[in-house]
Amino acid sequence: MHLELRPCNIARSMTAENNHYGSRLLHLRLPRVCVAIAGSEANEMLEKAEALARDNPFIELRLDYLPKPGLALGKIREFTESHPHVAVIGTCRRMASGGRFRGPISSQLDLLGKVAEAGCQLVDVEIQTAARLRPAQLDKLRSKAAVVLSFHDFRGTQKLDETLKKMTAYPADFYKIVSTATSLFDNVSMMKFLERHQDAHSLVGLCMGEQGIISRVLAARAGSAFTFGALSADEKTAPGQVTARELRMTYRIDQVDAATKVYGVAGDPIEHSLSPAIMNAALQRENVNGVFLALHAKSLKDLLACVKEIPIHGLAITMPHKQAILPHLDNTDPFTAKIGACNTIVRSADGKLYGFNTDTSGVVRPLEQRIGLQDAKILVLGAGGAARAAVFGLKDRGAQVFILNRHTEKGKKLARQAKARTMKRLDLKKLDFDVIINATSVGMGNTRESPLNAEEIKAKYVFDMVYDPAETLLLKLAKERGCEVIAGSEMFVHQAARQFEIWTGKPAPREDMLKIVTQALGERAAARNGTKLISKAS
Ligand code: ATR
Repeated sequence: MHLELRPCNIARSMTAENNHYGSRLLHLRLPRVCVAIAGSEANEMLEKAEALARDNPFIELRLDYLPKPGLALGKIREFTESHPHVAVIGTCRRMASGGRFRGPISSQLDLLGKVAEAGCQLVDVEIQTAARLRPAQLDKLRSKAAVVLSFHDFRGTQKLDETLKKMTAYPADFYKIVSTATSLFDNVSMMKFLERHQDAHSLVGLCMGEQGIISRVLAARAGSAFTFGALSADEKTAPGQVTARELRMTYRIDQVDAATKVYGVAGDPIEHSLSPAIMNAALQRENVNGVFLALHAKSLKDLLACVKEIPIHGLAITMPHKQAILPHLDNTDPFTAKIGACNTIVRSADGKLYGFNTDTSGVVRPLEQRIGLQDAKILVLGAGGAARAAVFGLKDRGAQVFILNRHTEKGKKLARQAKARTMKRLDLKKLDFDVIINATSVGMGNTRESPLNAEEIKAKYVFDMVYDPAETLLLKLAKERGCEVIAGSEMFVHQAARQFEIWTGKPAPREDMLKIVTQALGERAAARNGTKLISKAS
């Protein structure tokens, strides 16, 4: 939203009597994302504000990060005078409330009064501070700026109604409750809370933590006046904070409304998933009013409760839930039941959950673009969930499938179920294949391990389901042996494209999706510093 009226002037004209009306006006005119800005000295902080102002005209200056916040006042005044269209919250959170300001409450109050005079239209006052002020002191502050009365719970999400009740004992223009999500369902609690009280108060609510992403993106439609974003990935001022750029560009938070369909990928861990990047881009490209979130699902119970309440329209399921989710679904297609693993769920209007497996498309489609699969001789390495999707999908297309697994019994069982054959590693050198597919996790996140040695690779095509690194050792060896290689990113994109089609009924922009994955993998490779990446194409 663009600020046409100058909130600076609105707030300045407010008095303690009329500021409720003023805060409502301010509420209407505030952009959805406030960018929290920290810095170790005033110049740095205001330079960041300056650089950001055009793209994001709503910022929070975290004065408590400065060693001497009082010295920043002159610079803040210069900034607010030269940027009247920017709404600024002045925050000087005390250590006792999770901030960095070491001074007493009297100094905090003095500073907040001065930042208001320097042009900050809003100031943040923690409830712990408000509780120790005289009513006249809070009124005086409110005559200078809109007060955001804040409460932070760094441990969990509980007693939200009670907390608000305590907070509303103090007059304020916004009541901000920030809790910590220890489950996905905590987001539901936060959003229901916002919905219950949004008519009575101007609220800001969200959950911190990696599991809080749902509330960061969706709270605005539940009634939060705005939310917070980080300036950059390195400059987060709260756990789980997402960058403002991601909120705007990836999650398109400004367009999220009551009709926005919610999609997500659920797994544990989930932070490395590339699905949000490609799916949000695809939704945008195909003009679907939808948003796609990464859900850190530590338990299926939590995930399912959340899916029901949000409600989530489509869900990608990844490790370790692909098998365990099956009994919780209302229906699956026969192929998914045979594979025994589900990676895609659609939630119908009546709340029923339908399961599909698009990993088969992820394997079959890239191969069909290159060769005819009828009677093709294909070796599948592995007998886990990904291998099962490959084996059943390829058998269905008429291929001759051979299975080689570390634990032979598991390989034999899959072969029996799919009417495929098993083979011994010792026999590899004697056989030529049209395709070798790696469906094991060997080679994931490193370039040292390969499921096969160079002399064991005898095939026209070698397809690695591992997608990070982009060139696994297996693919490198295969190239050296003169094979054509198919990278795991192709599988990743094809299975995601099929998910997109199931959820939206629209063709997926596969080329764009592949570009995003390739770029992201390149960036990861460049940034890799020895940390283990989770990266199988699922
Ligand atoms: P996914 O659902 O991603 O396929 P999974 O079901 O855990 O994951 O399957 C992992 C596959 O990688 C299995 O086939 C596993 O072999 P076993 O069934 O013998 O355990 C295979 N795998 C994992 N680590 C391996 C290793 N170091 N060498 C060979 N195979 C390995």
